[in-house]
Amino acid sequence: MQNFTFYNPTKLIFGKDQLSQLQTEIPQYGKKVLVVYGGGSIKRNGLYDKVKEQLHEIGAEMFELSGVEPNPRISTVRKGVEICKTEGIDFLLAVGGGSVIDCTKAIAAGAKYDGDAWDLVIKKAFAAKALPFGTVLTLAATGSEMNAGSVITNWETNEKYGWGSPVTFPKFSILDPVNTFTVPRDQTVYGIVDMMSHVLEHYFHLEENTDFQDRMCESLLITIMEAAPKLLEDLESYEHRAAILYSGTMALNGILNMGYRGDWATHNIEHAVSAVYDIPHGGGLAILFPNWMKHNLNVKPERFKQLAIRVFNVDPAGKTDEETALEGIEKLREFWNSIGAPSRLADYDIDDSKIELMADKATVNGEFGNFAKLNHEDVVSIYRASL
Ligand code: NZQ
Ligand code: ZN
Repeated sequence: MQNFTFYNPTKLIFGKDQLSQLQTEIPQYGKKVLVVYGGGSIKRNGLYDKVKEQLHEIGAEMFELSGVEPNPRISTVRKGVEICKTEGIDFLLAVGGGSVIDCTKAIAAGAKYDGDAWDLVIKKAFAAKALPFGTVLTLAATGSEMNAGSVITNWETNEKYGWGSPVTFPKFSILDPVNTFTVPRDQTVYGIVDMMSHVLEHYFHLEENTDFQDRMCESLLITIMEAAPKLLEDLESYEHRAAILYSGTMALNGILNMGYRGDWATHNIEHAVSAVYDIPHGGGLAILFPNWMKHNLNVKPERFKQLAIRVFNVDPAGKTDEETALEGIEKLREFWNSIGAPSRLADYDIDDSKIELMADKATVNGEFGNFAKLNHEDVVSIYRASL
């Protein structure tokens, strides 16, 4: 295990009927509140009215930024920064999924920065300050509700990057499983794949003596895989929505990965695909992750073997490590197929015409990946295997 400092200041408020906690949380930060949301799901399911009512109760002045895109764009961030600067906003409230939260993080930091918010995303400048913000999460997937990360797309240049700073943790996040009941089946599946991928990104590392961390990762994967099919049978099951919602937060809030660095190459490879084709993040991961695994099997076959045995119940008797590992990867693919996730880039009508371009984007900062270093050729090969 490496030395580590664990820091996560987000207050997590989980469960039914917790929205009224806005009345105790928000007044600590001010009266002028910018509510940030997406393309209208919160208006259709009634959450928008409920949030408005809460803000009314505390006498807050409500400003709005709607229309945050899935794969949120820097152009929308700039609109939000403009509102914050001209109106003197005190607090931002993100009501939505990972895209809305990520956009809010960039607005919060952009509002305290003199230059263009894109500088923060490309790390030309460091976000040293941010307006305070909270979230009401409506989709289980990214973990953005309890981490400092944000992923922003520049659609003019087809670039999509993750960034973050200690000032971009939400002050609080309200997670009511009921607010996720209306997430459509396909988005529910993408969320499940995304959170499983976060656990897998952690899992592939080169550190020794991480038995407890390994077992936490394995148990989270098993929990998600047990709940997912039941949830997909009944999208309004509180019990299964709650299991998946909690799992998504735990997968990427720093709890699982103390003392080691996970790989994270597949996320980079996927972000390059969605920067060019604007596909759902979880859909891209379902296609790419098993191919990243096959590509890097020989780096440390025992990790893949351990995953295969402990999570996918592969019987290693009479098999080489590689055979056991490959069977585990196939079982992961089968599970994702069984819940309706895509398995080929062709499922999104993506052919080989922009593979070089995507690989250029993925390697813009050189080789990457903490478990296995990937270069341009490796990335091309993973894309080709995914066609
Ligand atoms: O825009 P609205 O109308 O709200 O609809 C959204 C959107 O179309 C809909 N939705 C959300 N909650 C709903 C709902 N529909 C009905 N009922 C509800 N309760 O779902 C669609 C997708 O939403 P989005 O926020 O884009 O999904 P997700 O949470 O998966 O976020 C994806 C983004 O997060 C980034 C991804 O790259 C992508 O840009 N990521 C952020 C991370 C982080 N900050 O830590 C880590 C991740 O690995 C990921 O890269
Ligand atoms: Zn992800």
